[in-house]
Amino acid sequence: MKMTKDVAQLMSGLRGDHRNMVMPLDLLDAEIARLGASGEPDYDFVRDIMLYVIEYPDAVHHPKENFVYRHLKSLRPEIHTDLERIETDHQYIEESGLKLRNSIEAISMGADLNRDELIEKFHHYSEQLREHMYWEETKLFSVADELQHFGDWSEVVLKNNEISDPLFGSRVERKYGRVLARIQKRVVWEKQNYRV
Ligand SMILES: [Fe+2]
Ligand SMILES: [Fe+2]
Repeated sequence: MKMTKDVAQLMSGLRGDHRNMVMPLDLLDAEIARLGASGEPDYDFVRDIMLYVIEYPDAVHHPKENFVYRHLKSLRPEIHTDLERIETDHQYIEESGLKLRNSIEAISMGADLNRDELIEKFHHYSEQLREHMYWEETKLFSVADELQHFGDWSEVVLKNNEISDPLFGSRVERKYGRVLARIQKRVVWEKQNYRV
């Protein structure tokens, strides 16, 4: 019984991570759009967001999902065909994020990179991440919900370490203060304009 509750907690944590991720991605899209024409984005802000993505979603969230996926595969090997792209997706997202972070660093230091190409790469990255999260919610997470009462989940739950989210967790790391301030400002703006 207790294990089921823990699995439910694990899945609810993963869903929460996805909900949190939408705002940094929206802000990143808006900032990158300023790279075009004659505009300059807030490079520090873009770097902070990319640092967050590398530090939490890539390093903490994705490994947890990989454990869930491997466990589901051990319970129902036929599931593999539906979910096989998950680990490749994670690897690709992580590599793309690192490359983009290096590119934004280089361009902020004056490197002569093709801006339209970079905008396109960021656009693709953001789209892919959103699509990946949607796919996980409809495939991986729903299968995990279905199978949460089957088999022994103790190892997966054990691996659900309690590494706190440095931006959305109970203690916000000082380095993410600027990102958090922008998120809070945007939330207030959305409430005023869309009455959400
Ligand atoms: Fe994922
Ligand atoms: Fe995810």
